Amino acid sequence: MPKFEKHIFVCGNQRPPGHPRGCCDPAAQKELQVLFKQKLAERGLKGKVRANHSGCLDQCEHGPTVVVYPDAVWYGGVQRGDVEEIVTSHILGGKPVERLMIADECLNTVSCPHKNAEGAKK
Ligand code: FES
Repeated sequence: MPKFEKHIFVCGNQRPPGHPRGCCDPAAQKELQVLFKQKLAERGLKGKVRANHSGCLDQCEHGPTVVVYPDAVWYGGVQRGDVEEIVTSHILGGKPVERLMIADECLNTVSCPHKNAEGAKK
């Protein structure tokens, strides 16, 4: 079996309501991951690109969080309506969806414009 060309990791972590960091899948429905799988299958990408449910990717303040490897492109605030565009533009077209990308200076930092000094969600 050939190797996967890309992996899409979709955070499906849950935290209790009111948690300062929030979480990417408060309803625990795996809705985004299921939708990615569906769109990939529709485009004939099953076996080439895999959408995996993931635990916390530690970018909670930017969530819902999705990362595409090996491209190392991180997306934040991903909603159901964004999945088609990510698959079409990025996965098929090779052009990441810039409006959804988490800025490099916001990744893995204690503070950024989206966090307060304690790393909590604004
Ligand atoms: S809960 Fe999704 S990145 Fe942390």
